[in-house]
Amino acid sequence: MADPIVVDDPGDPRLHDYTGLTDVELRRRREPAEGLFIAEGEKVIRRALEAGYQMRSMLLSAKWLETMGDVIDTVTAPVYLVRPELAEQVTGYHVHRGALAAMCRKPALSAPQVLAGARRVVVMEAVNDHTNVGAIFRSAAALGMDGVLLSPDCADPLYRRSVKVSMGAVFAVPHARLENWPGGLEMTGRAGFRLLALTPHEKAVPLDTAVAKGPERIALMLGAEGTGLSRQALSAADEWVRIPMADGIDSLNVGAAAAVAFYVASNGRGRAPR
Ligand SMILES: C[S@@+](CC[C@H](N)C(=O)[O-])C[C@H]1O[C@@H](n2cnc3c(N)ncnc32)[C@H](O)[C@@H]1O
Repeated sequence: MADPIVVDDPGDPRLHDYTGLTDVELRRRREPAEGLFIAEGEKVIRRALEAGYQMRSMLLSAKWLETMGDVIDTVTAPVYLVRPELAEQVTGYHVHRGALAAMCRKPALSAPQVLAGARRVVVMEAVNDHTNVGAIFRSAAALGMDGVLLSPDCADPLYRRSVKVSMGAVFAVPHARLENWPGGLEMTGRAGFRLLALTPHEKAVPLDTAVAKGPERIALMLGAEGTGLSRQALSAADEWVRIPMADGIDSLNVGAAAAVAFYVASNGRGRAPR
């Protein structure tokens, strides 16, 4: 175990990975470019390590030293010990979960890697809200989805808020970003998936009817809040499916729609049929 390093200067360059965490635009550019992401809170940090992500450093206040003691014992990364006020000065917010870790990104997976061996996959188009992305990953992990494909304009699953809302599920569910949209969707058909577009449109068939037809490999495509799926994405789909709702209701939040859809697609078993 390396001794924690006390840092009392908010301008210390060793804290660079943690600066300006509330500046979403800045962090969105910086983190992929610098090959890092931030894991926040004890559970998420542990899950990132269990999933094989390498730690760059950890930032802690004194009261978390004991809780994180076993982690500190096993990692070789530097552990910076700071006062809570200094953590707030550096990050821009009150770090009430007490522990932050800067982690290294792994090389990105390709879409064919995600599709290989999968039975149930999620496709997201323009889901650009980190909370929704995190919630969808959490449901995907819990309800039997084997992988996730993202359109180029989806929010980053490894952004701090997505990671936190997913409770680390973003580490467990393989995912890839399609560079070519919607052209890249053809790949799902070539891999034997039936691409079902989730839409509240009245012409869509009920999701359970489509699933009951029993295709072995299903890709469930979700759209963004507000606009929903684009015309191009809808026309790339094999079938439009809906979750029937009460009269007069426009739609479900995409995270809620995802959870219902994954449950149905896993035949209520919480795992992809094998
Ligand atoms: C808030 S909705 C978008 C609503 C938009 N007015 C539309 O017509 O798609 C966000 C996404 O959640 C999914 N969704 C929401 N409610 C749904 C429903 N009842 N059936 C199927 N998908 C639904 C769709 O994928 C949709 O693109």
